[in-house]
Amino acid sequence: MRKAVYPGSFDPFTNGHLDIVKRSLKIVDSVTIAVLKNTSKKNLFTPDERVEMIRETVKDLGNVEVETFSGLLVDFCKHHNISIVIRGLRAVSDFDYEHAIFLMNRQLLEGLETVFLLSSENHSFISSSIVKEVASLGGDISGQVPPPILARLHKHFQ
Ligand code: PNS
Repeated sequence: MRKAVYPGSFDPFTNGHLDIVKRSLKIVDSVTIAVLKNTSKKNLFTPDERVEMIRETVKDLGNVEVETFSGLLVDFCKHHNISIVIRGLRAVSDFDYEHAIFLMNRQLLEGLETVFLLSSENHSFISSSIVKEVASLGGDISGQVPPPILARLHKHFQ
């Protein structure tokens, strides 16, 4: 059984993230979406709100779980017996950061592999930060986020 984790801040989860989850399920048996709790970033939604929204978004996909995590990703992987990390790459600008995380995780846990999926053409420009900014200014982000997330963003900024 190939178990993978898809970790991230997901503040909020976008159509780009959803695309990565769906495509991951073609190469692994199960995906745990792990929402980072302990971050210095100022987030719009609490970790529990993010989990709730993502659960609603992926409720019809089989073999997907959504959880929060704090501390090191490698400890989460050890605890859940996961040896594959999934990350999306939108553009070259993502590479240095992802490369650094990849190398660090490998140092921390031998045997942990990271699978990078390049964003699909229509998702490569989507970012959670831009989605938040546009939503806060009343712009249309209906093409960028799944319906449950859109509803929560509208509620937040109404
Ligand atoms: O969506 P993000 O913010 O780019 O995700 C970053 C994330 C959550 C994958 C990364 O910060 C992480 O794994 N943090 C947990 C702490 C950790 O394990 N740090 C060592 C590797 S950077």
